[in-house]
Amino acid sequence: MAYNDLRMDNQWLPFTPNRSFQKDPRVFVAADGMHFTTHDGRQVIDGISSLWCVGAGHNRKPINEAIKKQLDTLDYSTAFSVSNDKAFRAAEMIAAMAPGDLNKVLFCNSGSEAADTALKVALAHHRARGEGHRNVFIGRERGYHGVGFGGMSVGGIPANRKVYGAALLPRVDHLRFIHDPVKHAYVHNVEPAWDEDPLLELENRILPLHDPSNVAAVIVEPVAGSAGWYVPPQGYLKRLREICDKHGILLIFDEVITGFGRLGKAFASDYYGVQPDMLTFAKAVTNGVFPLGGVVCSDRIYNAMMGAHGSAPEHAIEFFHGYTYSGHPVACAAAIATLDLFREEKLFERAGEMGPVLGDAMHSALKGLPNVIGIRSLGLAAAVELAPLPGLPGKRAFDVFMDCYHRGVLVRNAGDNLVFAPPYIVERAQIETMVGTLADAIKRV
Ligand SMILES: Cc1ncc(COP(=O)(O)O)c(C=O)c1O
Repeated sequence: MAYNDLRMDNQWLPFTPNRSFQKDPRVFVAADGMHFTTHDGRQVIDGISSLWCVGAGHNRKPINEAIKKQLDTLDYSTAFSVSNDKAFRAAEMIAAMAPGDLNKVLFCNSGSEAADTALKVALAHHRARGEGHRNVFIGRERGYHGVGFGGMSVGGIPANRKVYGAALLPRVDHLRFIHDPVKHAYVHNVEPAWDEDPLLELENRILPLHDPSNVAAVIVEPVAGSAGWYVPPQGYLKRLREICDKHGILLIFDEVITGFGRLGKAFASDYYGVQPDMLTFAKAVTNGVFPLGGVVCSDRIYNAMMGAHGSAPEHAIEFFHGYTYSGHPVACAAAIATLDLFREEKLFERAGEMGPVLGDAMHSALKGLPNVIGIRSLGLAAAVELAPLPGLPGKRAFDVFMDCYHRGVLVRNAGDNLVFAPPYIVERAQIETMVGTLADAIKRV
């Protein structure tokens, strides 16, 4: 279909300024490797792995072939009370990669569904153990766990919550945000060491307020991704684990962004050496080519849920939750091929190697430019933070995003941050082009 034949007035774009888009549409018609082709025939570098998804790069034949083959073999089967071979195989591979006893995979279709699923497992698990009063959730300011009501409630991005006030879950509290803009504005592949313990407020204020015995779970992104790649203070996740253990609280890591290689390891849990009770995943698990998400739960959680039903008749369902497309065979075939490709091409290791290259380039090219107030890099992702325009938060970064797009680089604007998280196959020269284009745009804007 020719671009000029496209009607642009029926699709309402998600998380997009629609009125501005209509005036200057950005439409991709093809992708290969590191690049998109636009409707007007230009090449644009995918500097963000299409929102943290496309770790192996675009148009990977082994994944495409696996999907085509699956469509010709078993296109779809219901997920309730029957299943399919690819779902079991994908679950086995994901469980083998997940840390420790995280071995039970509940599939869904997105990161938002994964967050809500994990929250529901937490409540159901506590109730099964006779602790149904544990129904308080603790998230973190500026955390992002998708757009379902559960994920929005534990999430802490003000704009995402503002309109939905009374409809958010009632018994939710939030940890303070993990950024010190004065002492740790510039973070390069290290965990910043804070003078004070940012988790003291959890122990001294939040838990006493709700009483720890009422708290079901704490959910955090190991690295705050959507907010703009904010790195946790040194020892933060370990201490969070200890506090949760002390009080019988479940710890959930939202690894939708950090899962499957972004930090050079399978999961951020491996990178930080901290095992949660559940981790959520989506995005890179299928290289983004087919929707798939999930929650990996510990054996302990699963066994408690099954054990609690020990005296119930065997036809009784133990967990009333699931999606029509849970474990979709085509999605799972895509996941199997993606995880094979990650292993065969050692792509997590490559992400680990290219991370410092990206970080070095960002810090050396952008520090000191007009309006730059911070740069943070860890793994194969890095963000530069700009001073907001007075009264127009986000405008400066949006203008930089547009400038980069028109010069052939897709960067992500998040608030007044600009974030790069390229596919793991990125080359040094492409990093130089991306960062150089961003630097020029920052100077121009
Ligand atoms: C940490 C995190 N959790 C959950 C989600 C929501 O995922 P989805 O958009 O697939 O629902 C995202 C999306 O960016 C995310 O970054």
